[in-house]
Amino acid sequence: MKQQIQPAEGKLGILIPGLGAVATTLIAGVIAANKGLAQPTGSLTQTGHIRLGKRTDNNYPKIKDFVPLANIKDIVFGGWDLYEDNVYQAASLAKVLDQHLLDKIKPELESIKPMKAVFDKSYVENLDGPNVKKAATKMELAEMLIKDMEDFKKQHNLNRIVVVWCASTEKYIQATAIHQSLAALEEAMKKNDALVAPSMIYAYAALKQGIPFVMGAPNLTVDTPAMVELGKKTKTPLAGKDFKTGQTLMKTIIAPGLEARCLGVSGWFSTNILGNRDGLVLDRPENFRTKEVSKLGVLEDILRPDLHPDLYGNLYHKIRINYYPPRGDNKESWDNIDIFGWLGYPMQIKINFLCRDSILAAPVALDLALFIDLAKRAGMSGIQEWLSFFLKSPQTKPGLRPENDLFKQLIKLQNTLRYLMGEELITHLGLDYYEEEA
Ligand SMILES: NC(=O)c1ccc[n+]([C@@H]2O[C@H](COP(=O)([O-])OP(=O)(O)OC[C@H]3O[C@@H](n4cnc5c(N)ncnc54)[C@H](O)[C@@H]3O)[C@@H](O)[C@H]2O)c1
Repeated sequence: MKQQIQPAEGKLGILIPGLGAVATTLIAGVIAANKGLAQPTGSLTQTGHIRLGKRTDNNYPKIKDFVPLANIKDIVFGGWDLYEDNVYQAASLAKVLDQHLLDKIKPELESIKPMKAVFDKSYVENLDGPNVKKAATKMELAEMLIKDMEDFKKQHNLNRIVVVWCASTEKYIQATAIHQSLAALEEAMKKNDALVAPSMIYAYAALKQGIPFVMGAPNLTVDTPAMVELGKKTKTPLAGKDFKTGQTLMKTIIAPGLEARCLGVSGWFSTNILGNRDGLVLDRPENFRTKEVSKLGVLEDILRPDLHPDLYGNLYHKIRINYYPPRGDNKESWDNIDIFGWLGYPMQIKINFLCRDSILAAPVALDLALFIDLAKRAGMSGIQEWLSFFLKSPQTKPGLRPENDLFKQLIKLQNTLRYLMGEELITHLGLDYYEEEA
């Protein structure tokens, strides 16, 4: 069945809480790509293909030619930050992209100035900035954000907006009674409940207006019944949590292979050094805890020690993130994986990934923005599990096990696109090629 999808007409606003390393790399990258100065490498929406029909049909269109996505030339960026730097200054400070490239697009970057943020230092102890909204209640802060979004839409003559969180990882909190229903959340916002995090105020403001919301950090934010209820009520899609990049991306590539071949894993030690502002924030144990929870679940979900207690029942999984300023955004990670095979004989795998965090995260943020805009136009609302491919800790319906295997996530994403466009789903059975010969 082909879904009714509204066309991607006019301009799409991408509004970003947090104009730091990831956001500025995304913005500069899109502007550079639009000017033909660089390629949007790593972006599935811009460079990926999808197979349609049988292998013998040899029909592999580009995803962006198959589904009606917004054209990246029609994107207008904006955002909020507690620091006043414009995107040129923030990108220069982040030192992810060459100054040479930034200078070529300086006027465009300078024109994007952060709106005042909704910020609460108790959620991110290591940051402090002047560009912050003030109001008597959290509900009033949400109303101010709603006004920001409305003004931005009018000012740039936009057709649609999506909000993608690229701000810091907040301290770890767990869902409580105030997160269980929309009514309880609204009441808590009016009463300034401490467990309404700043990210929740942004998400509430967006979803309330029918604007899709993506959570790029591991924050609880939209992973609560209250936010899902709001998304359903306003027919708005939401997705989270935590952009899948770096070490976790590698884990979700390697672990499915080990599990598929029934190789045992007795230990997986992961350590990182990074020196960007994200690293500084994660240097606080309360903030690191949020990241740790997001990263730890991945292996268990893929390896399923409940099904294979002999292979993975004693797996020791340890994750360390060390703040090391000289490295900036150029993170280095080491993984030592102790595995065992036939008759229990031990082996080791060592991975030393010299990655660039924001170079991996920017295309993921772009793809999530474009796909969640598509989801909205296709009438999809609430949790978008098909976007798990891009997320470290994918949000699912309560009680439903997340799928962390990157390859299964890709099949799910591609089949969702085929489904939306009324194309046949692909099961990879392939027996029909041989049945025809008989
Ligand atoms: N880089 C990656 O590969 C990657 C992967 C997954 C997730 N993430 C997450 O993405 C987020 C951004 O990473 P980054 O490297 O760009 O960090 P960053 O520190 O460079 O940028 C974050 C920005 O958010 C701002 N900020 C913090 N709280 C805010 C608020 N309440 N409202 C508005 N702005 C706020 C900060 O001032 C900062 O400029 C982090 O939460 C990080 O954990 C990054």
